[in-house]
Amino acid sequence: MNSLIPTPDIFPASWEFFRFLLMLLFPLHLILMNAMVGTTAITAYALLRKDETMRGLACELARVLPFLIAFTVNLGVAALLFLQVTYGQFFYAGSVLMGVYWIAVVPLLLLAYYAAYLFDFKFSNMNKPLAIFVIFLPLIIFLAIAFIYSNNMTLMLDPEAWRAYFGTQNGTVLHWGHTPLIPRFLHFITGGLAVGGLFVALLGRVRKKLDPAVRAAAERIGMRVFTILTGVSILAGFLFLAALPRQMLLLFMGRDIIATVVFAVGMILAVIVVVAGGSRKVWLCAWLVVPLMFFMSYLRDVVRTAYLQPYFSPVALPVVPQFGAIAMFLIALLAGLVTVAWMMWKAASALGVTKP
Ligand code: HEM
Repeated sequence: MNSLIPTPDIFPASWEFFRFLLMLLFPLHLILMNAMVGTTAITAYALLRKDETMRGLACELARVLPFLIAFTVNLGVAALLFLQVTYGQFFYAGSVLMGVYWIAVVPLLLLAYYAAYLFDFKFSNMNKPLAIFVIFLPLIIFLAIAFIYSNNMTLMLDPEAWRAYFGTQNGTVLHWGHTPLIPRFLHFITGGLAVGGLFVALLGRVRKKLDPAVRAAAERIGMRVFTILTGVSILAGFLFLAALPRQMLLLFMGRDIIATVVFAVGMILAVIVVVAGGSRKVWLCAWLVVPLMFFMSYLRDVVRTAYLQPYFSPVALPVVPQFGAIAMFLIALLAGLVTVAWMMWKAASALGVTKP
């Protein structure tokens, strides 16, 4: 046992209960994060083009961006809550090693949020170079945050790498020695941009009050980005898989039946969405991408479990049930979910989204 791993806290309910909530909320964070990154990238691309329709598209996408940032952060915080309960002793130790980058996420996010609002409110008064700067800033920040999180989520899986602390105690350790880091990050980013493209195409479909040329451009560009980048993300996914240790790779090749079936179904779904994306079946892609994200998040969790297997067993965790506290938590959670659903409904009506 690695002596650097802190003792886990006492659990107020079974570990599986919190893991279920993590597995429910993380894919939602991922979907919103994808919509946010993809929308920002397509806004930046539209702005670089010398075309009035594209400028109109950039202006419309700018209106959505602050909402997407807010929902991504909120769902990220919810996932964080359950991650720190389920894997706190690994997550916090890894985070301390890279504390400078971790804390930097807060000011970076504030800057990105501010830039997104500035772009939304002042877009029509900005000259082009300034507008380009103001939209590329959040894009670069989002990519940097994603990279920080990929480091964070892999450093927590590798207690042997924590020994780096004895050489670098200033909170700037990154997980460069971890072979799957870069393919993993590329898989997230290309997949994220792809799903973001699908989100932009969906916006073109549902915002019927928009100029028809802008709606058509949103759908055309969104679906092209979705189809091409889903293909690239599948390739990056294979690179990620190939970079994993052999015993983990074998989990998806029959050693773990559930993981193998989920992997196979995920691959079939991925191929179907590429084909459907090529023929611009926006709604079909949207309906298939949601379960696909849940399947891929499950596979990511299989990898996490395999990495932590030498150090961690949920069975050995101390549980002292606190029914009252858990009941209060569930009531607050339900109230929170109802509030978020209400906010989403309000946001959709403010943006003029109507039923397909
Ligand atoms: C707004 C910009 C953000 C981006 C671009 C982003 C992106 C990502 C990415 C790419 C991952 C997966 C990393 C990996 O496994 O390799 C991730 C995971 C995660 N993010 Fe975010 N994120 C953002 C904001 C946040 C915020 C503000 C929080 C909460 C404070 C958050 C909480 C989490 C958590 C807890 C996970 C891991 C969940 C798990 O391992 O089950 N994220 N994020």
